[in-house]
Amino acid sequence: MKALILSGGKGTRLRPLTYTGAKQLVPVANKPILWYGIESIVAAGITDIGIIISPQTGDEVRSKTGSGDRFGAQITYILQEEAAGLAHAVKIAQPFLGDAPFIMYLGDNLIQNELQGFLNRFKSQHLDSLILLRSVKNPSAFGVAEVDAAGRVLRLVEKPAQPASNLALVGVYFFNDSIHDAIANIQPSARGELEITDAIQYLIDQQRAVEACTLDGWWLDTGKKDDLLEANRIILDTKLHHSEVLGTIDESSKIIGRVQIGANSEIRHCTIRGPVIIGENCHLENCFIGPYSSIANGVKLVDVDLDHSVILQGATVTGIHQRIVDSVIGQRVQLCVAERRPKAVRFMVGDDSQIELV
Ligand code: G1P
Repeated sequence: MKALILSGGKGTRLRPLTYTGAKQLVPVANKPILWYGIESIVAAGITDIGIIISPQTGDEVRSKTGSGDRFGAQITYILQEEAAGLAHAVKIAQPFLGDAPFIMYLGDNLIQNELQGFLNRFKSQHLDSLILLRSVKNPSAFGVAEVDAAGRVLRLVEKPAQPASNLALVGVYFFNDSIHDAIANIQPSARGELEITDAIQYLIDQQRAVEACTLDGWWLDTGKKDDLLEANRIILDTKLHHSEVLGTIDESSKIIGRVQIGANSEIRHCTIRGPVIIGENCHLENCFIGPYSSIANGVKLVDVDLDHSVILQGATVTGIHQRIVDSVIGQRVQLCVAERRPKAVRFMVGDDSQIELV
């Protein structure tokens, strides 16, 4: 059994963050989204992992993630020259996959369930494909499945205008080698991509054994800002089990609940109410940091009141006296107020940024 993780694509829905980096490397609770997927694949006992990368962000994915040693895995990087679809990615990975069965995992997806149970079912029932479904409010944004009363998959349609159900295809799939023949038999879709949804439909049309599991745990597709904040909330809630302070905290600061603070970070006259994670080499002074906030390495916050937000590496925020909520602040951003009661605001904001003064 092998695994194929897709970490290419342009990340248009997470702009401007993805102008300078891969969407799969955007951190959730200070760890790249992609790494959660690798960890859960390794936890299921699969260590031979291929990662599909794009020419734009491949070097960054490769240099951050490395050979796989840190995960106890062996990673092979596979360059997809053009964003020509998920099934196209499987096609170019064929030399890596050979005739092995594999898990295909979209690098910006996170699911609550462990993979082992699904893997056991896929193997013991000798399925050609096992797909995962989750009911969603906006099925038109996904691949959508029509299933019968017994739970058999009847039909899959990619991003239908009139969805036949509210069951979306989750970005985690199990395949045996019959998927390669299916991919060889499909045509590009209206958006010009070879869709994995169409390849699975081909398997269904050929009476192959395709079954579905419906997830009841959470599933996050972190492709947009609010999804990213929600992923951050859930991961801090469920995976930040204990407090750990490696940095220094002065006596006038108050730390409440589960809070992790990295090495060489300095906390002065702050109240931090967990769950909160703060990276290394940060400087926080005169701040209130509320629950569900993740602050990456090298961030400086002075006179800031912050809640339910993600601050990326090297950002500086000073003297903002309104509470900052539901925000994602990119790497090296500088946000400051020159006076206590500013008469005007001055912006130098990148393309596709979103600022809401509420
Ligand atoms: C892809 C698949 C879609 C699936 C989704 C899950 O969509 O094509 O069927 O529901 O991932 O994240 P994309 O993210 O390429 O729009």
